[in-house]
Amino acid sequence: MQPDLRAGEHWLAKRSPDERKRLGQWPTPWWVVRAVTERAVADLGSAPVILDPACGDGRFLLAAGKLRPDAVLVGVDVDPDAIEAAHANLAAAGLRAELRLADALAEPSPLPAADLVLSNPPFVRPQHLPVAQRTDLWARFTVASDKADLYACFVERIFATAPRRALVLPDTWLHLNSFAALRALVANAGPCDLYSLPSNAFVGARVLTVVLLSGAGAADRAGSLAETGWTETGPLARGEHAWSLDGALPELPGARLDSFVSLHMGVVCGDYPRYVHPEREHPLDQPTCRGRDVERWQLGPVREYVRYEPTDMLARKPYVAPKHAGIFAVPQKIVLAGTSGRSLRAAMDEEQRFPLDSCYVLLPKTPEVDLWAVLGFLLSDRVSAWYGARHRAARVKAVEVARVPIPSSGWGPVADAARAQDDARLNEAVDRAYARELHGTR
Ligand SMILES: C[S@@+](CC[C@H](N)C(=O)[O-])C[C@H]1O[C@@H](n2cnc3c(N)ncnc32)[C@H](O)[C@@H]1O
Repeated sequence: MQPDLRAGEHWLAKRSPDERKRLGQWPTPWWVVRAVTERAVADLGSAPVILDPACGDGRFLLAAGKLRPDAVLVGVDVDPDAIEAAHANLAAAGLRAELRLADALAEPSPLPAADLVLSNPPFVRPQHLPVAQRTDLWARFTVASDKADLYACFVERIFATAPRRALVLPDTWLHLNSFAALRALVANAGPCDLYSLPSNAFVGARVLTVVLLSGAGAADRAGSLAETGWTETGPLARGEHAWSLDGALPELPGARLDSFVSLHMGVVCGDYPRYVHPEREHPLDQPTCRGRDVERWQLGPVREYVRYEPTDMLARKPYVAPKHAGIFAVPQKIVLAGTSGRSLRAAMDEEQRFPLDSCYVLLPKTPEVDLWAVLGFLLSDRVSAWYGARHRAARVKAVEVARVPIPSSGWGPVADAARAQDDARLNEAVDRAYARELHGTR
């Protein structure tokens, strides 16, 4: 039965959406708290110290205290109202815990050594952190590289604090390039188990999440956790650039896509209302498209124009990089949607569109590269399986697409099938090209 967590509801009702975003304040559904805690505390020794360094309203500590009355419970949170709510929730359940108001990532660490950390640390993208905080954290935490997330800093600190961890995390660290250091840190700590949560587990948040169990008892298992319980699907697959919960990662032979084509972001104008219009209004207006206009094989009709003034765009927003027109005003290029889900969505553009930055543009590196063949490979079932197993995020990243393996020969039939938009013929030709690459036959 769900305990009385009303104090937590009152706490969050006081917070504005911006405050919640900056502090990553999304409470864990009670059924997840209960299932994760039951599993994590089961075989701990006597009187274990159980810590939640981002305790919010104290729900993980509450679940732990109910299951293990001998435990010493410690909670830390940076928000005084969260600490107050945790006091109230734990008192209502007849439990005692040491609750500390502190920044869990401060130096020196305010966290006590613990036997187990149970937590759902805050998920906060670097651009939503105050600049001074981000600069400080990105200098101190080895996993905070590039576009990682605040939760990566928490994982680093938690791994240094306790030998066992049961954490609710977004799934982005499993496949994004910016989390390579975090994957290495978790892997170096030994086996772990990973279970995906349902996509709607967090009400009102569009984030895919996983449960990470690390420390004694973990055995590189993968599976899922639903309200009905845990399901194991097989071993956790750890690839060089991504980990997968869906079985072995399919491998493909070939050279990286970016040895054949260059990848560019579309026009980064920095101000859509100023530069993008539904009608052609200005001599510099160019037909454009957004990710949503990229259909499989072809672009939807022109619905908007972008006034292409790179100097003006740069003067107004010095960080934008609108590129030079030569990237866009070419007879042929591939336009790739910037959000694609588990397979790539791309089209051939022969109308000299100037796509916006919700798209990428792919250009041949040498005149011999046949873009129809490249498009065919990208839209084939083989590449979809390769890409989809590694990259579950909706957002497509150029560094990840650049790694798609492309065979060195067998391009002709792939290009022909792509021009004809004949999927059956395309998949056969693509399979033959990869088989030939693998076995070295010409
Ligand atoms: C995702 S919520 C989790 C709350 C609770 N443990 C749960 O599972 O429902 C993350 C919590 O981290 C707290 N937090 C954010 N930054 C923090 C920091 N630097 N140190 C400690 N707590 C922090 C937030 O106030 C919030 O309560």
